[in-house]
Amino acid sequence: MPSDHTNQNPYYITTPIYYVNDRPHIGHCYTTLIADVAARAQRLVGRDTFFLTGTDEHAEKVSKTALENGKTPYEWATINAERFKDAFAFMDFSNDDFVRTTEERHISRASAYIKKLMDQGDIELGDYEGWYDPSQEEYLTETVAKENNYKSPVTGRDLEKRVEQNYFFRLDKYEGWLREQIESGTIRVLPEARKNEVLGRLKTGLNKVPVSRKIKDGDPDWGIKMPGDDSHRIYVWIEALCNYLTTVDTDGRRAYWNGEVVHLMAKDILWFHAVIWPAMLHALGEKVPDTVYAHAYWISEGTKMSKSLGNFIEIDQLRAYAERYSLDAVRWFLTTQGPLGANDADFAHARFIEVYNADLANSIGNSMSRVGNMIDKYFNGEITRTCNGEFGFEGGKALQLAIQALNDAGKSPDDPSRTFDFPKTTQAAVDSALQALAKLDLEEMLDSGRSIVRFVDDFISYSAPFTLAKRVGELEHADKALATILYSCAEALRIASLLLYPAMPAKMAQLWRDWNCNHLRDPGDHNSPFLTPLSELATWTGEHSMSVGQRVSKGEVMFMRADANEPTPGSEPA
Ligand code: MSP
Repeated sequence: MPSDHTNQNPYYITTPIYYVNDRPHIGHCYTTLIADVAARAQRLVGRDTFFLTGTDEHAEKVSKTALENGKTPYEWATINAERFKDAFAFMDFSNDDFVRTTEERHISRASAYIKKLMDQGDIELGDYEGWYDPSQEEYLTETVAKENNYKSPVTGRDLEKRVEQNYFFRLDKYEGWLREQIESGTIRVLPEARKNEVLGRLKTGLNKVPVSRKIKDGDPDWGIKMPGDDSHRIYVWIEALCNYLTTVDTDGRRAYWNGEVVHLMAKDILWFHAVIWPAMLHALGEKVPDTVYAHAYWISEGTKMSKSLGNFIEIDQLRAYAERYSLDAVRWFLTTQGPLGANDADFAHARFIEVYNADLANSIGNSMSRVGNMIDKYFNGEITRTCNGEFGFEGGKALQLAIQALNDAGKSPDDPSRTFDFPKTTQAAVDSALQALAKLDLEEMLDSGRSIVRFVDDFISYSAPFTLAKRVGELEHADKALATILYSCAEALRIASLLLYPAMPAKMAQLWRDWNCNHLRDPGDHNSPFLTPLSELATWTGEHSMSVGQRVSKGEVMFMRADANEPTPGSEPA
């Protein structure tokens, strides 16, 4: 069942496993980041979560580039698998495992699945003639090949006509079943535009798909042999897909497969995940994925990234951005500005600076330091009152006093009767974040966090606590009113920080250290588990709220404002 936001099943999220012919780039980091943000959010909600990524190693292009680099395929795969691991550690990804398809645990189980499919007649031997795209290592149908002028739709390179004796998977048997699964949403294909594409292609009919490659003289010894037939290897795509199951097909992890399964990828490989893989699983008698989510592409400064143009945003460039603006700023930009929906997104330096200043330096960071600074300045860095949301306390109303202070100073808010319902606003933001998370709309989820920040900013402009502060000692109860106002801001920002945390785990952990919110989790380790689920952590004046006596220190500036004319990090001459 696709999740509603109260789903408490175990949650299993995967990324594609990436080819190790080359080093990782922004595209690989993006999908894995999206998975990381979703996984962190689900853990925060309190769900038992498993997040898997890894590398796809048995491709022909891996053995080819290995040879060009004077390495064995395994040596070359290892060099690049390490680069992926390093990049993902740098990005602060919280994956629970990293699978390499050259590992025995994968090889033995993938072979067993294929054997089962052979034994039960879902895989059979036959002749195959088709258009092969060597750059993508896949066969294309006659229609697709023709539409693309017999060039690869992805790389534009020539297709090759190949005839082979192969083993075939009887995908054709599952056409009706697949259509029903996808139409009904049992397999939820997202975004909607992608679902329609898949259903459209399904209408043109399904053929058997080749699942092996005959071994030719001189072929490198690379890939998993077909069970019971040493003259064929399992087609790399078919065994690669199996990784999602092989990695959790253990006593301790099976619950993840039986929970909610979410596969993330870009649109290039949706067909494999939405059609071929579910059909294989169904034939194996396994549960099918609940969600198959295919995002669009990053392009770079308006241009498609390609090897020939050499314009990939590389990890080194992301590192340079992280050094200058912080890693969490990079994570924020990629998550909120990325191609999560059906449209491609542009990685442009000017846009990065714009978003960095607008969302982080001027909004989230500014709001958090402003409130911390005021508590530091007016109350010696200590929370002295709480507020149940009504701004009421013996002897007066905080907001009324703030307005009075403003009036006395010859100013007044636009609408003196305005109300600010903090508990309701923060609860609504949490609810909408959870609904967005259930449909993997992570931009909307994070925007719910930002909506609280906007609310606080608006409230500060309205109530002008700095004006009220000048009247402490003169205006009766001004101190209590000020404490109430600042408490409300701090408590709201604490709740906002929980919703922003999945994208910016280190910065939010820094805030929790500065504000002594030690009850949220282990303050020394921003990847440690939360002590209780979000529903409890985010309760207004609940057990985990800001409390009287809590120390709030100013802390360092979270995000320094950036100059629009700063050069692109990583572009300066060394
Ligand atoms: N090995 C296969 C996947 C097997 S999964 C069982 C493969 N690997 S890949 O290295 O080519 O990675 C493709 C994936 O990388 C895309 O689906 C996407 O997740 C990510 N991206 C690669 N380039 C991208 C962009 N330009 N933009 C966004 N994501 C991109 O295919």
